[in-house]
Amino acid sequence: MSEQVGFFLDDKPVQARAGEKILWAALDNGVYIPHLCAEREREEPFGACRLCFVEVEGRDLPVLACSEPVVAEMRVHTRSERVDRLRRTAFELLMSHHDLDCKNCVRNGSCSLQQLAKTLKVSLRPKRFRKLPTEAPIDDSHPDIVLNPNRCILCGKCVWVCNEVEGSGVLDFVFRGLRTRVAPFRLEPLAQSACKECLRCADVCPVGALTRKQETEGEREKVPEVKG
Ligand code: FES
Repeated sequence: MSEQVGFFLDDKPVQARAGEKILWAALDNGVYIPHLCAEREREEPFGACRLCFVEVEGRDLPVLACSEPVVAEMRVHTRSERVDRLRRTAFELLMSHHDLDCKNCVRNGSCSLQQLAKTLKVSLRPKRFRKLPTEAPIDDSHPDIVLNPNRCILCGKCVWVCNEVEGSGVLDFVFRGLRTRVAPFRLEPLAQSACKECLRCADVCPVGALTRKQETEGEREKVPEVKG
């Protein structure tokens, strides 16, 4: 059995596997920390969404719970004015390039963005940041999957599962800066790519960017409907 260490989570003494990331240790101990891009099986945390900030006593700045390992006797605080503000800002930035169209999205009711908006008490239509244009072409060529880059929040889960888990090498990030999006190799249509049809990219997508064609509401965990 792996070595366990004791640390403090919101002043409560808890245990975790030595070296476990704070995010998973907190979730295992029943404490929710907002997160979007993290996958427990992923060797290197991606650290893209910036939603999982926590405070660690002795550190000047908040740290990302998905990449910071637990250390014995560490004192972690999952809430503070500072981390709440950082998480809300991270969420608002994600929404600035997400094509919000909940009523026409099969993920309506099970979308991670809807769940996070409720948790963070932030509008799905924040006004602080300018909305970026979302005009990338939708790829409907594949028999089983639809790729809508305009809904993508660049969490990288599909790229990870396609390349590192399935070894298919189909999906990757293309372009740079504000134009960055996920697309098949050489921007070819999905139907002409080397897709092995595992469909795992659609299963890990936390929003409505990659979906199975036959997917319907109710196939995923339900949360109360939020109107887009
Ligand atoms: S879950 Fe930590 S940065 Fe996304």
